[in-house]
Amino acid sequence: MFRLAHLSDIHLGPLPDLTLRELASKRVTGYVNWHRNRRLAMFGTTLIDLVTDMKAQVPDHVAVTGDLVNLATKKETLAARVWLEELGTPANVSVVPGNHDAYVPGALKRSCEEWKPYLTGDNPLTAVSQGFPYIRVRGKVALLGVCSAEATAPFFATGAFNRGQAVALARMLETCRATGHFRVVMIHHPPISGAAAWSKRLIGKQFFSKVMREVGAELVLHGHTHLDTLYWLDGPEGKVPVVGVPSASQNPGDPEKPAARYNLFEIDGEPGAWSLTQRERGHRADGTGIDWIRERQLLSDGRAIKARPIIDAPKAEEPKLVMFGS
Ligand SMILES: [Fe+2]
Ligand SMILES: [Fe+2]
Repeated sequence: MFRLAHLSDIHLGPLPDLTLRELASKRVTGYVNWHRNRRLAMFGTTLIDLVTDMKAQVPDHVAVTGDLVNLATKKETLAARVWLEELGTPANVSVVPGNHDAYVPGALKRSCEEWKPYLTGDNPLTAVSQGFPYIRVRGKVALLGVCSAEATAPFFATGAFNRGQAVALARMLETCRATGHFRVVMIHHPPISGAAAWSKRLIGKQFFSKVMREVGAELVLHGHTHLDTLYWLDGPEGKVPVVGVPSASQNPGDPEKPAARYNLFEIDGEPGAWSLTQRERGHRADGTGIDWIRERQLLSDGRAIKARPIIDAPKAEEPKLVMFGS
């Protein structure tokens, strides 16, 4: 069995002081927004506690689907590199960037340079656009990293998936289907109509759904909405689950966004008969600690059924040996 952890929307804080030059850009609206909304909602030990708990589960690999920083300043990008190094080695952690990692023109290039070992494929030559999509194979699982991040105008957080990435992704997925790997696609923006507000949507999602329809995948992971969602896209042999996870830094108690959580996917079986279980673990809504939130099996016919829970209760007492005679 392969165990894949999924974290997203780290939004590492606190924000460093900005220079006047940095404030004279789209960052000024983000700076005000962060101080108004995110400073309190996403500061404290929420992220540290969640990552500590995730590490204790000893996953085989960790997928991080973007928004590692807030305004993509140089200091934030460097701090995120340190955070990644603490999370795991580049061989065990795969990253795709989010819109906040590409906050202003030029930021995406710097984020990708700084985090390069974490978003470089096994064969970098196959990628088409700034190194995306990339592909990594770990055991029976192939991880495909797509970039939807781009700098946008103030008050917009859209993403883009273009024809070039679609063609390359389709080719990679086709190859992995032939080799019998379980294919996981990572993208920051949800490739689903209506999943995000219009100003935050993915532009080009029709290319993504076409790739899924024609070549398919076994699992799509995304972030961006900060919500726990499950959608399905049509694939050539059944449905493809599209799973979103809440922000890893969200403090409990927010009326609109679920508290910080990660997903743990258990992947088993073989081509044509894969078994996929999603276990959601994170902070309880009342802030009393970390627990299992939901456990379900995702079936290729588009059903999600209750999974066997992991029991943390103490083990039953060992049967005592009964001695006969003296
Ligand atoms: Fe985010
Ligand atoms: Fe985002």
